[in-house]
This record gives sequence, structure tokens and C-alpha cells, in this order.
Amino acid sequence: MEGTKKPARAVLLAAGQGKRMKSMKPKVLHEVLGKSILARILDAVKALDVEHVHIVVGHESDQIRAFLEKNPPGIPFSLHLQQPQRGTGDALRKVTPELGGFKGTLLVSVADTPLLQRATLAALLAGHRESQATVTLLTTIVDDAKNYGRIIRDAAGKVVAIVEHKDATEEQRKIQEVNPAIYCFDWPRVEPGLDGLTNNNTQNEYYLTDLIGWAAKEKLPTAAVVANDWREVAGINSRIELAEANRLLRDITVNRLADEGVTIVDMAGTWISPEVQIGPDSTVLPGCHLVGDIKIGSGCVIGPHTVMGGRVVVADNCSITQSLVTNSEIGKGCRIGPFSHLRDSNVLSDEVRIGNFVELKNSNIGHNTNVSHLSYVGDSDVGSKANVGAGTITANYNHLTKKKNRTRIADGASTGSNSVLVAPVSLGEGAVLAAGTVATKDVPAGALAVGRARQENKLGWTDRFGNKDS
Ligand code: UD1
Ligand code: CA
Repeated sequence: MEGTKKPARAVLLAAGQGKRMKSMKPKVLHEVLGKSILARILDAVKALDVEHVHIVVGHESDQIRAFLEKNPPGIPFSLHLQQPQRGTGDALRKVTPELGGFKGTLLVSVADTPLLQRATLAALLAGHRESQATVTLLTTIVDDAKNYGRIIRDAAGKVVAIVEHKDATEEQRKIQEVNPAIYCFDWPRVEPGLDGLTNNNTQNEYYLTDLIGWAAKEKLPTAAVVANDWREVAGINSRIELAEANRLLRDITVNRLADEGVTIVDMAGTWISPEVQIGPDSTVLPGCHLVGDIKIGSGCVIGPHTVMGGRVVVADNCSITQSLVTNSEIGKGCRIGPFSHLRDSNVLSDEVRIGNFVELKNSNIGHNTNVSHLSYVGDSDVGSKANVGAGTITANYNHLTKKKNRTRIADGASTGSNSVLVAPVSLGEGAVLAAGTVATKDVPAGALAVGRARQENKLGWTDRFGNKDS
């Protein structure tokens, strides 16, 4: 069958304003666990066997265009302008004249469903190919049907129509099988139906849902695939539903991780995005926010109150307590925190210790090295078994050249408390920087560098000048 499989194209409807969001941003650019609704649905679509995605835009379309330029979806796509927005059927009409001679399956979906999974779309596509129906739609069963379109089936159980909530009778409103608005259409077989849509309804819109009634009336075959988990196909229409989608996606993710052997102590108080992977026998303590492209090994203890973002890789057996980590790599057995800030482009080798009130940026830290207290290490290469003393600062920015320079601290070197390394500067192997030193010159291996005012003791000073009453 593989060779005879009809090609498929996806159509995402994203022209609407999403009035109830009360936002300057198009609804589909709002984020759910760190990723826009549109990017999430594109992730699901691009993993399918579809050759192109047509995206219908309208309200604030420039923002969507700019977003896609910055975040290319990784699948051929085109934008189609719908102005004004006269309904979901009208939206599809903006695409079809530009399909050329395309013959095959149009997978059409509203674009406000951030939790949609690839597997569900794949099941819909497979169901459509198998049944060879003109229209195959996804449906789902819900407790609260809200404003969803209701699925009308005949006595034999065949789907014969979708009725919008606003147009439904009291009796129809009791139906709990609803329309997530995700369909497969056989193109160009549905073309006459699309051309014939009217707007005789409460909203004066051209409803895509009317295509199902049209197909049934024309006695064209229709089929339905029921999605088991309604949460996955829930549409976002308001900030409250957006918050709910965050919660749902969080619940799905923490449950998946727990099934994979991760202890999550407070499932409701831990925010983890679905991209995150965590190895078995790791523990995530309460208050963590791990949102991004994050990979954590086994046997780690993360949190409480640790925040990670961007691309983060953490190897096995690390502990990261009350800290912020973005775009960094952490080796095995490292101990980070409390209150450490690993700010972008750091690579830590194994067994590194980063302590309280330490900020690292764009730095490489060698095996078994400690930066334990109150330091800023930026644009630096620190070797192994080195010790960066309390309050050490790398002065990496040159105000004249406006450039950042690198600091090198070789294996086994150590810096005393409150020392400053004015980059570019290097500390040779085993070298020691005395406390309070401002290093402006390279220090050779094995040397002690002292660069501070010499202390002078004035003997008997208190007896002569001190406050005798105290
Ligand atoms: C739609 C369905 C409803 C279904 C629900 C699922 C219709 C008529 N109704 O209703 O049966 O239960 O989705 O969430 O299709 N859009 C456009 N152009 C338009 C109008 C909408 O591109 O002219 C896009 C929006 O950007 C949005 C999507 O279509 O992404 C759905 O629009 P929305 O207004 O939210 O439709 P619902 O009223 O929820
Ligand atoms: Ca909707």
C-alpha cells in the first residue's frame, strides 16, 4: 500500500484574534510551558507524513510571520492571509485556490490546541486512509462540553453533522461528544461543499463544520476517530484556559516522568515542560521550574526551587539546590547551590562544586574544581583541582575596547579571597593569588602573586588615641 498512499498536506487555522485573550498578540503566539501554541502544534504536525503546512493568518499576521522567521518550523510552509475573518470555512477557502493540482488528504486543524500529540494526528490520518472516507473527523467525549460544536450521529451511529454550541437546541447541548475541529478531507472531492458553504447561522460565519453535514447529505462516506484523552485536543480561548493548558501539560509531563522512575515530591508544585528528560532515580524537589530543552541524568537531586531554561544538560549524580541554570552543561557528580547562577554557555566537568552567590557565565570549569562562595567567573577557562576563593571576581570587560577578555586559571591554581583577575590574564599551574590581590599581569606556574598594599601595624595606638570611655 505504501506506494499508492495519497500525499497529505496540513492546514492550520490561525487567523482569529482570540478576542477573549484580550491581547495584542495573536492567540497562537501565547506560550504553554515555554513554547508558543503554534510551535507546539507545528512540532506535532512536522513529525507526520505531510509534505507542506499551510497556515492561515489574519489578526496581527506580521507577528506570526516574524515568529516563524525566527523559529523555522522545520517543514515546508506557506502563509495565507484571511482578512477579515469570516469563519473557519472561509479560512480554508483562502488556502484551496493555491493548492495547484494537489490531490490527496488535507489535514485541517484549528491552531489553538497546544496539547495535541503527533500520535493522535497520525491515528486520524491512518483512520482516514483506511476508511477512504471523504471526511474523517476527530471527536472526543467531555464532561463539560462548554462551547464546543456537538457531534450529531444517526441511529446507526454515523456522524451526520456538527452543530455549533450557539446554534444548538437544548437537547443537542446535552451531547457530550464534541468537535475538537481537526479533520481529514479528501481533496478535491470536498471542493463543491466548501464552495457551497453559507453563513446562515447565529454568528454569520462560514463554518467549516458544515462540510460534515454537506458530505452526509451528498451520501459521501464520513468517518470518525475518537480521541481518548480530551485534554489533548482542548482549544484555548481565554487566559483561564491557557493557565489550565499549562496545568494539563505539566500533569501529563510529571506523570510521564514518574512512570519513568523519577521521584517528583510535589507534582502540583513542580513545573516541567514536555521536552525535559530525566533519568531514573533522580528526585525533583518542590518549587522547581524546568522549562526548555533540558536533559538530566540519573541519581540527581534537583531543587528545591531550582529554575532551568534554554538548553541544559546535567550528567548523573548531581545536586542543584535553589539555583538558576540556563544554556549550560554540567558534568557528573557536581554540587551546585544554594543560590548559584549558571548564566549561559558554561561547561562544567565532573565533580565540580559551585557554591552560594556564585555567578558563572561563558566559562569552562575543570574536574574537581571549587568555586564555593560569592564569586563572579565570566569568560574564563578554569582547570582541574583549582580553587577559586571566596569573593574572587574576573574583571572580563574592558571599558576602552568595549570587549570581553578571557581569564585562564590553570590546573591546581588557587585564588585568595577577594581577589580580582583583570582579563586578559592567566594564572599558571599551581600558582597562588594572595587574598586581596588585583592581578593585572600573568602569574607563572608555581608562583605566589601578591598585589595589595603592605600592612603596617602602629603599636600602642589604642592607648594613645583610642576612645578610653568605651
Ligand atoms: C471551532 C469549531 C467548533 C469546535 C471548536 C474547537 C467552527 C465553526 N467551530 O469553534 O465546532 O468545537 O473550534 O476548538 O469551526 N479561525 C480562523 N479564521 C476565522 C475563524 C477562526 O483562522 O475566520 C481560526 C482561529 O484562529 C482559531 C481556530 O480557527 O485558531 C478556531 O477558531 P475559534 O473562533 O476559536 O473557533 P471556536 O468558536 O472555538
Ligand atoms: Ca476555539
